[in-house]
Amino acid sequence: MATIFDIAKKANVSVITVSRLLNNPKIVSKGTSEKIFRAMEDLNYQPSQIARSLVKKQTNTIGVIMPDVKNTFFNNLFRIIEDYASKHGFSLLLCNTDEDPAKEMKYIKLLQSQRVDGLIIIPCVVKSVDYLLKGNMPFVLVDRILREQKTSYVSADHYAGAYNATEYLIKLGHKRIAVLKGSGVLFPDVMRYNGFADAMKDNGIRIEEKYVQDCKFNEMKAYISTINLFKLKQRPTAIFTFNSKMMNGSIRAIQRLSLHIPEDISLVCFDQIAGYEIFKPKITCVIQPIKSLAVDSISALINLIKRRHLPVEHVEIKLKPKLIIGDSCKAI
Ligand code: RIB
Repeated sequence: MATIFDIAKKANVSVITVSRLLNNPKIVSKGTSEKIFRAMEDLNYQPSQIARSLVKKQTNTIGVIMPDVKNTFFNNLFRIIEDYASKHGFSLLLCNTDEDPAKEMKYIKLLQSQRVDGLIIIPCVVKSVDYLLKGNMPFVLVDRILREQKTSYVSADHYAGAYNATEYLIKLGHKRIAVLKGSGVLFPDVMRYNGFADAMKDNGIRIEEKYVQDCKFNEMKAYISTINLFKLKQRPTAIFTFNSKMMNGSIRAIQRLSLHIPEDISLVCFDQIAGYEIFKPKITCVIQPIKSLAVDSISALINLIKRRHLPVEHVEIKLKPKLIIGDSCKAI
């Protein structure tokens, strides 16, 4: 296995020069760097990929940090990002954070150490964004707009999506609308709740606390909450879940109680449930433009990478989600 001593001899340079190239390539001339790099390739020096990236100052890798790769929204998003990235010569390193701030920071630092050229991040805390703003790695925020100034972001309009879904239920005559949501910390959760609350307020309907359930975007918690909602003397006539996993939990509870959709309860989901096409009745849902979210974010990041030595042109893209009417709601 070749060592840097073999490389130095082969390239007819000092060992110090080889070490400088590996640690601080900026101070080694292009000609000398190429000579050393050729020696590395001739001797099949293992870190030659690292050396090449140091010489080219690009690894052609991009980091993607997501909270839940099992969630259909995120895995569909990643799939399209990967297609676009590989067509443009980039490989991806995918990191799953479970909305855990410590894990998120650990992965940001790991990807920096791997010298990725840029980062797509669906961040759970603003601290991660502030940390990235202090560095010089190009990044694009997706799904969460935690810092508008000096960052590029691509997100669906969570507020508008939730407002329209709620208004749809109200127009069907529903007033006792239960929401299964997160804990009010994550950006999409806050914006969706604001959209729901404003639609209720604009239609003169009071929000009853017993119908607002913190299910932490979690399927099991949504199952338990739905069972409890049906124990209420005045049970809800509609349930609006802020993501597909909570809708899965709610449907499992409704089936457990041998109730029927929409006869006994109307359902609306933010995002499509897995198996949306085959599940009957079709669940009315707010769908995010996942293809546009993916292509707009990865293309913006690749542009930032290519122009990293030029003045930064940030993108700020907010996309309209669509309400897809299925068969899971009835007029009352
Ligand atoms: O849990 C998935 C949800 O969280 C998606 O709707 C996405 O918007 C993310 O914020």
